[in-house]
Amino acid sequence: MVEIAAWLRARQAEGTLRELVDLDHLGHGRVRLADTEGPALLDFSSNDYLALSEHPALIAAATEALQRYGTGAGAARLMSGNFPVHQELERAVAALKGQEAALLFGSGYSANVGIIAALMGRDDVIFTDRLNHASIYDGCRLAGAGIARFRHNDLNHLEELLASQPVKGTRLIVVESVYSMDGDRAPLHELVALKERYGCLLMVDEAHATGVFGANGGGVIEEAGVASGVDLAMGTFGKALGSYGAYVAASRRMIDFLVNRARSFIFSTALPPAVAAASLAAVQLIQQEPGLRQELHQRVALFKGYLRQAGFAGDLGPSQIIPLRLGSSATAVAAAERLRAHGLFVPAVRPPTVPEGTARLRLSITRHLGEAELAAAAAALVACCLR
Ligand SMILES: Cc1ncc(COP(=O)(O)O)c(C=O)c1O
Repeated sequence: MVEIAAWLRARQAEGTLRELVDLDHLGHGRVRLADTEGPALLDFSSNDYLALSEHPALIAAATEALQRYGTGAGAARLMSGNFPVHQELERAVAALKGQEAALLFGSGYSANVGIIAALMGRDDVIFTDRLNHASIYDGCRLAGAGIARFRHNDLNHLEELLASQPVKGTRLIVVESVYSMDGDRAPLHELVALKERYGCLLMVDEAHATGVFGANGGGVIEEAGVASGVDLAMGTFGKALGSYGAYVAASRRMIDFLVNRARSFIFSTALPPAVAAASLAAVQLIQQEPGLRQELHQRVALFKGYLRQAGFAGDLGPSQIIPLRLGSSATAVAAAERLRAHGLFVPAVRPPTVPEGTARLRLSITRHLGEAELAAAAAALVACCLR
């Protein structure tokens, strides 16, 4: 057991102490530091990319389910917590992801932990990208399988590891299609080819891609046309889909297996029906209204253009997540504080969330942010952090 007070002092000293910020959420992408008379800040930290959390269709669906079923599911799905809306949502997600079936989880964290630990065990090896999300790491640890970490998006390194690990049990490759803190994308075509060559399973976390990419919002898997090569397509409802919870889409047999083996599914209360109803409305909306996605991509392109015009010369990546790497935690925290004075709420992301020496501002673009606001924000960012 660590000495708690000393541990907290050490985090404070190195600039990595995490603290909750009291915020008033004003809607439309604006927040205010609570209990201050300060101005509203533009929120560049939310993953509500399509601004669906405030969409009338989601609010209406949730309200109706709330009136009908009340606030909670009352039990796990395998007890009495299985509502028709859960199953309807699973069918809709399976279709969106081009898979036979799907299973809901309470959150993306519990999905990753539950899926990986259910599938993998002592004789198996998990090949995991170094920049994978903490929930994937925790699933790998809980599984008790061998863990082979490959350098971020480095297919040669992955292949070296695949070739050098003895084939005994199951081998699973796990990646994110859009990396949460870097905004770059996994080379899915090549990963499918590798998984086929080496007889592995492939799991893709689309937490930051579902709703944002693909003609129907089915993610990078849909955009790249690789659904049939992906064994487990995991994603969340809490980001572009504006709701809460998570899913995995896979073959019917895989889902039947997870219903019996994924402990974070079995031993956890079902998602509230109203939350599932909002998620279902979101899954329908992203398919019916591709304009939501196009508008987001236009804003992202505009913002990147404004940053370049203002003098930023670095790589801004291929997605709505833009990392501005500043190095030390202290530099990133100081930059985030300066930005608040310019009316921008931008999180400083520090180790251990990101590797040592790569503390950064993580900018997340949402449909809440208008063109003029994005132009002003880009100018402020370049002036106060990058010169
Ligand atoms: C890539 C990735 N996977 C999983 C999760 C966890 O999802 P949730 O927030 O629903 O627990 C996140 C979110 O933080 C994420 O970025």
